[in-house]
Amino acid sequence: MPDPTSIRIRGVDKSFGAGEARVWALKQADFEARPGELIMLVGPSGCGKTTLLSVLAGTLTADAGEVEVLGRRLDGLSQAELTAFRRANLGFVFQSFNLIPTLTVRENVMVPLLVQGVAREEAEARAGALLAKVGLGGREDDRPGGLSGGQQQRVAIARALVHDPRLLICDEPTSALDKDTGQRVMEMIRELSRSPDRVVVVVTHDHRIFRFADRIAEMEDGRIRRVLDDPSLIDSPSH
Ligand SMILES: Nc1ncnc2c1ncn2[C@@H]1O[C@H](COP(=O)(O)OP(=O)(O)OP(=O)(O)O)[C@@H](O)[C@H]1O
Ligand SMILES: [Mg+2]
Repeated sequence: MPDPTSIRIRGVDKSFGAGEARVWALKQADFEARPGELIMLVGPSGCGKTTLLSVLAGTLTADAGEVEVLGRRLDGLSQAELTAFRRANLGFVFQSFNLIPTLTVRENVMVPLLVQGVAREEAEARAGALLAKVGLGGREDDRPGGLSGGQQQRVAIARALVHDPRLLICDEPTSALDKDTGQRVMEMIRELSRSPDRVVVVVTHDHRIFRFADRIAEMEDGRIRRVLDDPSLIDSPSH
């Protein structure tokens, strides 16, 4: 009987390029997240964090190993099955935001609902409510290009949350935010994680948000080096 909340990867390899230029982004990586938790992933630039998130999201296929997300083995699903699975279950805040420049702020946030067949009016209302919550009420009709980096990041966060995903993956969600906005956004993200059928994975370099984690996984050179059950134990400039 598959566990509908399990997030588990085992022995995952992922390389880019070929021959002399081949780079191993993940090397026999193991990772596990528990239902109802917010787990953070930290580690130096280039250690494989974004690659690991992409494997969990099914946007990159592992070269080897097992990938189980919300009780489904992703290795072996077709592209069409993966897309359907992502649309139904996954929210992703990309490191580079990935907003659609030709759509308004509101329309960007509506996309995950519209692709699931939610009626336009309801999608508009839900997007509007969430944009107000992230402090962007009044900017709904702007294009992303007219917003600051921090504002664009908040649009990306609203888009990832709008369909109430069971797996929320955030790559550096506070990198462009000031301290207060970052704390507010993390409070929303943590609130979302407090449900037994939900999991939140956050990659960050931002020591100011470590306190929102239930556990912190340290990554090094393509694999998880250790997992801290007490986030206050992590070395950070504030200690
Ligand atoms: N599409 C790609 N093509 C080639 N190499 C890649 C690609 N994506 C990642 N890599 C390489 O894989 C390694 C891991 O990259 P990854 O983006 O996962 O690191 P990261 O931990 O997210 O770093 P950062 O903190 O800078 O975002 C790096 O050496 C990177 O250069
Ligand atoms: Mg990255």
